[in-house]
Amino acid sequence: NFQEPINEPYLQYAPGSAERKVLKERLKELKQEEIEIPAIINGKEVKTDRTQDVTMPHNHSHKLGTVHLCGEKEVKMAVDGALEAQKEWANMPWQERVAIFQRAADIITGPERFTMNATTMLAQSKTPQQSEIEAVGELADFLRFNAWYLTKIYKDQPYSPDGMWNRVEYRPLEGFIFAVSPFNFTAIAGNLPSAPAMCGNVAIWKPSVESVYSSYYVMKVLQEAGLPDGVIQFLPGEGADVGEPVLANENLSGLHFTGSEPTFNHLWKTIGNNVDKYKTYPRIVGETGGKDFIFAHKTADVDRLVIAAIRGAFEYQGQKCSAASRMYVPQSFWPEYREKLLAEVKKIKVGDVEDFSNFMGAVISRKAFDKISGYIDYAKEADDAEIIAGGEYDDSKGYFIQPTVILTTNPKFKTMQEEIFGPVLTIYVYEDDKFEETLDLCNSTSPYALTGAIWAKDRYALNIMADKLRQAAGNFYINDKPTAAVVNQQPFGGARRSGTNDKAGSMVNLYKWLSMRSMKETY
Ligand code: SER
Repeated sequence: NFQEPINEPYLQYAPGSAERKVLKERLKELKQEEIEIPAIINGKEVKTDRTQDVTMPHNHSHKLGTVHLCGEKEVKMAVDGALEAQKEWANMPWQERVAIFQRAADIITGPERFTMNATTMLAQSKTPQQSEIEAVGELADFLRFNAWYLTKIYKDQPYSPDGMWNRVEYRPLEGFIFAVSPFNFTAIAGNLPSAPAMCGNVAIWKPSVESVYSSYYVMKVLQEAGLPDGVIQFLPGEGADVGEPVLANENLSGLHFTGSEPTFNHLWKTIGNNVDKYKTYPRIVGETGGKDFIFAHKTADVDRLVIAAIRGAFEYQGQKCSAASRMYVPQSFWPEYREKLLAEVKKIKVGDVEDFSNFMGAVISRKAFDKISGYIDYAKEADDAEIIAGGEYDDSKGYFIQPTVILTTNPKFKTMQEEIFGPVLTIYVYEDDKFEETLDLCNSTSPYALTGAIWAKDRYALNIMADKLRQAAGNFYINDKPTAAVVNQQPFGGARRSGTNDKAGSMVNLYKWLSMRSMKETY
């Protein structure tokens, strides 16, 4: 059915609700099974001789399973199989192709809803609500809306004067796409291979090993929905082991990436070095880091601004690329704001996500824990900054970091500039009469430009802010938190060092995976 979709409504998992009971049951079952996570190549499970334990961030001694890691041999098998599969896949009527992904969305929101939610809770330490909005809602939305956008793209045809018939054909790219997905969103993980595949491409998907458990269930849903063997090859592994042989293959036709800036730079350079050997110029689409801001004018609504900072900075432990991590507050209401913000931070409960009363779980890994706590320690020692909330961390059971607020007198303080990817918000208080120059500072402080939020009741001030920060964020929020973009409502992506800004879940993104043939026929 090609009616315009609607966004999938979220379940709330309120105390006493039926859905809460079912989800708890599913969590219990999944925790009791220890699974093996193989590669999936040509529709078959492939086990390798290199394996790694998969554990939970909030309880790192609990093993969820074992993942089989791929290397050159599996890459070769996967690329050969994908190119073979493409012969039929690229020629399948597009209506049939997209129907598979619509079916996958119906499985995700239907029979496997609680599995999708629970696996993401366990693998990525998300609360049930954070899990629901993305592993169920956003993933289904990506699949349904991309299918819908494609129907519009395919219909779009050029003008034909008398005596000729002009048309364009939206072909898939020749070759295969390399999809590299991050740990933080199951929805992004599923979308990176699916969007190109929907357009008739085949994809080698390297999920993050840190969240491979939930990505594996996405792959299983795609198979259950009828995805032909070989169209998406699921290859868990370390970056270089999978990435190097994939990028060295002459048939690479695109990279669809979300992850860190250094990794994206490395992949881009490797593609550059191999450019002479490719049969086609690979399309490169990537979303990388952010240093996302909240900028408040003196007319901002203080109470709502407190909630925006709490939710923007600390939901999912600040591990959204969109998370608020630097904030500019005017001196005139700072004392009141400080008091209200710190009172709210104190109420935040951090712990095991299976206890549904917690607002925050653990950060993803020991590596992340060390990096984030390193920034906190740096701020503790600094002369031009102080920690006004949080600052504690404990990795004895899980990788737990308390929501932390740093106050600095230095607008260029390290934690105002660098991406931390954790629950750390740095605040700079500015003199009210330095409003415009502080906006310039905000614009030039970080190399990133992913998300940002401006706050004011005064419309004139909002205009100045929107204007001065025009290039500072690809997703710009006015009187709202800078997180939680919804598919078909706020297409997502940033420019500058945040990526190529080919908005996820949009026609702009899908065009990247299509190669047009213009045809002119005269009669
Ligand atoms: N799309 C997510 C958000 O907007 C981040 O990747 O929060």
